[in-house]
Amino acid sequence: MPETLCFDMYGTLCDTSSVTDTLSAELDASATLVGELDATWRAKQLQYSYQSALMDDYQPFWEVTADALDYALAQWGVDADEQTRDRILDSYNHLDAYPAAVDTLTRLSDAGHTVTVLSNGNPEMLETLADNAGLASHLDDIISAHEVGTFKPNPVVYENAADRTDTAIEDCRLVSGNAWDVAGAGNAGMATAWVDRSNDPFERIGVEPSLTVGGLAGVADELA
Ligand code: LAC
Repeated sequence: MPETLCFDMYGTLCDTSSVTDTLSAELDASATLVGELDATWRAKQLQYSYQSALMDDYQPFWEVTADALDYALAQWGVDADEQTRDRILDSYNHLDAYPAAVDTLTRLSDAGHTVTVLSNGNPEMLETLADNAGLASHLDDIISAHEVGTFKPNPVVYENAADRTDTAIEDCRLVSGNAWDVAGAGNAGMATAWVDRSNDPFERIGVEPSLTVGGLAGVADELA
């Protein structure tokens, strides 16, 4: 049966760790330090999104991402002038799509599913990235948490995706590499597919995935 598939963007269709290329090019930093900056930047970005939502002080995800970068640079004692910092931040507009992304979206579309992005990114950054990563023409829609002024895993973000696609929430499926996102979508009443690339344990809160696969192609293998 055709479903409305809602793909997470950062860490699911696109690899957030592709920022390491820009970090290496822009900073005089060892590979170890680049790895630490990458990990701190992503962890703080997610933490700040949760904090912003809980504080009821919504900031677009681009601002959250910028604040998290500034924290990561400060945490690791890295000086970067404003232009350098802006070029590093711009790497979020140029993340690599995972190699299987286009083929997976195409197979699922061809099988009759509606294929969308559902992301915490604000619309402008999502549209820019979808274009740059070659994903835009393979998507039926891009749905942003910005539309409801808070972030996943708040249920209203998943509910908005169901409303926007005119689909009952139980007929929508979130596809995500982020376990917290899968747990949250299940909590909101969506079916889910967890792309568990690192064979991690699943979250201990929220709702277990309806489907677990080891990579994006597995979603198409199961649903197309
Ligand atoms: C997304 C990030 C937060 O929503 O993974 O795309």
